[in-house]
Amino acid sequence: MPSGACRAKEIAMGKEPRFTCTSCGAVHAKWSGRCDACGAWNTIQEEAPLASGPSGKGLGGARGASVSLSDLAASDTPPPRTVSGMGELDRVLGGGLVDASAILVGGDPGIGKSTLLLQAAARFAANGLSTVYVSGEEAAAQVRMRAQRLGLGDAPVQLAAETNLRDILTTLDTAKPRLAIIDSIQTMWLDNVESAPGSVAQVRASAHELTTFAKRRGVSVVLVGHVTKDGQIAGPRVVEHMVDTVLYFEGERGHQFRILRAVKNRFGPADEIGVFEMTGQGLAEVGNPSALFLSGREAPTPGSVVFAGIEGTRPVLCEIQALVAPTPHSQPRRSTVGLDGGRLAMILAVLEARCGVPFTGLDVYLNVAGGLRISEPAADLAVAAALLSAREDEPLPLDTVVFGEISLSGAVRPVSQTEARLKEATKLGFSQAILAEGSKTGTSSGEPVRLIPDLPTLAGGIFGAG
Ligand code: TYD
Ligand code: MG
Repeated sequence: MPSGACRAKEIAMGKEPRFTCTSCGAVHAKWSGRCDACGAWNTIQEEAPLASGPSGKGLGGARGASVSLSDLAASDTPPPRTVSGMGELDRVLGGGLVDASAILVGGDPGIGKSTLLLQAAARFAANGLSTVYVSGEEAAAQVRMRAQRLGLGDAPVQLAAETNLRDILTTLDTAKPRLAIIDSIQTMWLDNVESAPGSVAQVRASAHELTTFAKRRGVSVVLVGHVTKDGQIAGPRVVEHMVDTVLYFEGERGHQFRILRAVKNRFGPADEIGVFEMTGQGLAEVGNPSALFLSGREAPTPGSVVFAGIEGTRPVLCEIQALVAPTPHSQPRRSTVGLDGGRLAMILAVLEARCGVPFTGLDVYLNVAGGLRISEPAADLAVAAALLSAREDEPLPLDTVVFGEISLSGAVRPVSQTEARLKEATKLGFSQAILAEGSKTGTSSGEPVRLIPDLPTLAGGIFGAG
């Protein structure tokens, strides 16, 4: 039995089997039901040792080749980009597709990744970028049928249905496309890795081969990755470090809205979003998401508050809905869709402690209309307003937007880009705003702005609570 240190060394050297979390990629010495690193259950899988691990001790005396060094100050022209003509996609990419970049598009199965990429492939190909679409999940005939249904039947895209990466790379070497789409990375397998397709080892090795191929041959590569909640297939998390750009395609199954979000981008701003709508003819771009997220608001309703948010570089208005009702249970329910549950708990605690507005014995449901997910703390004040409005059965006027961050002391703090938020609100016909005292409202806004210093002012002054 090797000692602990010795065993760790053997794992590091690739002699021992190792156990990897398929969700976060953490390496463990032994199997367990729960990953210590990310807390996910049943995600740890045994991985076969590396076929060619590091050999010998250290680098020894053999000298490597010297690498050419260059000045940081050397002036490079910005990387050439190709636009697809799908404005929402181009913006998320940071202004178009960068040559020789590796992009990961992740998302739940069935959310529309293949549809999006087939449409993008057709647009890029039509713009003169030779494009190959490799499907590892569907037969070429299936992809063709979908293309016809999307009205892209005669787009100059080359198709292949293949999963053997060695064959795919050879094909790409001969076909010399400028863009290759691999759908999906979980179906690809390398014949020199002893592990099933979809395992962490295969996904990691395949992604590594493809990203190095992209850099070496100057081909842009788009990898599709499924994220599964049960961890059966390796999540694309392990691939995130290897690629230049990570995009997530999100949305609620029941809604037709889909959001493409840049979570990492070496060539553009992260957190940028593109909004699409799933229609019978594929994904349609939504140029004005605020109007879409706010559609269907006709009369002032208690619990409904419009939040002026910033998604990436763009202001987006959306409706936050709250429902507060007496609970029949001993433990009241706290349920959120599109917002962080921890944030809700904090706001409820501040309302109770600083404003004297308790929610004990009340169920609280919070929802962002349209399937948008909000992570900005700037939404705090809108959430608090929705909760108070629902609790007091007191609607805000239809043409009011709310934003501001709440601190534990009950103070309301100004947030960034106040002017941009107000401008978008004015554009959409909102004429009143509630925000933090000290916000930089600028001179452009002509709307009546109500500046509040703290949460008790909102609770008492506007809703008559507490
Ligand atoms: P798909 O692109 O296959 O998802 P993914 O590749 O992420 O697994 O999209 C699947 C869903 O999209 C499917 O449930 C049907 C729906 N869909 C439409 O509503 N309209 C369309 O035009 C297309 C092609 C798909
Ligand atoms: Mg698919």
